[in-house]
Amino acid sequence: MLNAVQMVPATGRMRPGSRPGPHPERVSVRRMQPDDYPMVAERVDAWSGGRFLGVALPRSFLQHFADTSLLLLEDTQPVGVLVGFRSQTSAEIAYIHYVSISRACRRRGLGRTLFSHFFDLAGSMGCTEVHSIASPVSSSLIAFHRQIGFEVVDGGGFAHGIAVFADYAGPGQHRVLFRKRLAAVPTPTLAG
Ligand SMILES: CC(C)(COP(=O)(O)OP(=O)(O)OC[C@H]1O[C@@H](n2cnc3c(N)ncnc32)[C@H](O)[C@@H]1OP(=O)(O)O)[C@@H](O)C(=O)NCCC(=O)NCCS
Repeated sequence: MLNAVQMVPATGRMRPGSRPGPHPERVSVRRMQPDDYPMVAERVDAWSGGRFLGVALPRSFLQHFADTSLLLLEDTQPVGVLVGFRSQTSAEIAYIHYVSISRACRRRGLGRTLFSHFFDLAGSMGCTEVHSIASPVSSSLIAFHRQIGFEVVDGGGFAHGIAVFADYAGPGQHRVLFRKRLAAVPTPTLAG
C-alpha cells in the first residue's frame, strides 16, 4: 500500500521557472482504481487545455493497469496522474504510458515525486529499468525526463535536434525513447 509522500525539501538555488514545493503533509500518492477513469479523463482534459484525446488514454488502461497507475493528490484534490505497467514481453521493464500534472501545479516537484513512486513500485515488482517515450517537439517533457535521470536511447534517427525512433507511432510520428536503470535493491546479508 502506498502511503503519504515524503517530499524532499528544496535545497540550493531554484532554477528559472521552478516554484516552491508543496508542504509534504498535503501531498499523497495512491494507486488508481478502474472507477477513477471518468475523473482522470476530465482532469487531464482540463490540465491539457481541452486537448485530451481518449485514444491516448483509453479506459482499458485503468481497467487493466490500475495496480501500476498512480494518482497524486494535494489536499485530497487530484493534481497528477501516471499510467504505467510492467512489460509482458520483457519482465525486467516497466513502462510509463502517460503522465500529466495539473498545469497550475507544475515546476513544484510533483512530477518528480510521482515518477519516484513509480520507480519504487517497478523495483518492488523486480523490474530493473523504466522506459518512457515523448514526441521530439515536447521540449518540457524531454527536459523533465533528462532531469530526473532518464537517458535518451539511440533509436537510429534524428529529428528536432534529438535522437528519435523514426515513425515509431506511425508515418512521420517520431518518438524520443527514454530509459532509466533502477538502482539495484541490496540483497540482505545473512549474519553468522
Ligand atoms: C512534464 C511534466 C510531467 C513535469 O511535471 P512537473 O511536476 O512540472 O515536474 P517537476 O516540477 O517535478 O520538475 C522536475 C524537473 O524537470 C525539469 N522540468 C520540468 N518541467 C520543465 C519545463 N517545462 N521546462 C524545462 N524543464 C522542466 C526541471 O529541471 C525540473 O526541476 P526544477 O523545477 O527544479 O528546475 C508536466 O509538465 C506535464 O504533465 N506535462 C505534460 C505532459 C504530457 O504532454 N503528457 C501527455 C503525454 S504522456
